[in-house]
Amino acid sequence: MVAGARTKPAPLFWVVAVLFQFMSLAAVAQNTTHLNITAIGAAGGRSTIECWQITRPFDTSTDPGTAGTKAQQLGDTTNLTLTILPPKFDGGLHNAPAVQYVAFTSGLAVVTLPDSDEKATIRGGKYGLIIAADIAAVSKKGHITRYPSGSTTTALQIRMKDNIPPAHSILHKGACRQDELVGL
Ligand SMILES: *[C@@H]1O[C@H](CO)[C@@H](O)[C@H](O)[C@H]1NC(C)=O
Ligand SMILES: *[C@@H]1O[C@H](CO)[C@@H](O)[C@H](O)[C@H]1NC(C)=O
Ligand SMILES: *[C@@H]1O[C@H](CO)[C@@H](O)[C@H](O)[C@H]1NC(C)=O
Repeated sequence: MVAGARTKPAPLFWVVAVLFQFMSLAAVAQNTTHLNITAIGAAGGRSTIECWQITRPFDTSTDPGTAGTKAQQLGDTTNLTLTILPPKFDGGLHNAPAVQYVAFTSGLAVVTLPDSDEKATIRGGKYGLIIAADIAAVSKKGHITRYPSGSTTTALQIRMKDNIPPAHSILHKGACRQDELVGL
């Protein structure tokens, strides 16, 4: 193009092409869902309750039986334990024995901290997945877990390989809110 020449209006083709580009970007962005998960973390030697967002977004499954549906990779795990907690059980003050997911499948768990008012209430079921990462190496006292339900609370404890939590960002202090969980 000669310097100083007037810019011609963009041909319709390019306008349409750019528009499509934006539309597909918007569609991809809409499909990118991140899992938010309540975490018992640690900072400055004390346990914390935080809402984590898992860095890796949901993938679309290609596995037989679930192909085309949303699937979240949750990292490398080792050692799975099914835990059965009797009604009104008091787990007391303790550290997470390992960095682990706890998937509450029934009942109710209430997590509190020894030196703060922070509290997380987790109902067994669809939104029952948390991560407990306040191992003794990072938290002096740990956290308190009680199971106030009148019926049994069941949970799967899923330990992370080498105590490495999944890549995440911290959305905020305190447990994830319901509106941060329901976008599944
Ligand atoms: C978004 O997800 C919907 C349904 O899950 C799918 O039909 C569509 O092709 C996806 N769009 C993109 C851009 O991935
Ligand atoms: C697996 O988990 C159980 C229960 O938490 C624990 O007692 C055991 O030591 C763990 N085993 C390994 C290999 O980490
Ligand atoms: C996680 O939190 C983000 C930001 O608040 C939100 O946009 C997203 O929908 C949440 N994810 C789920 C699965 O609810």
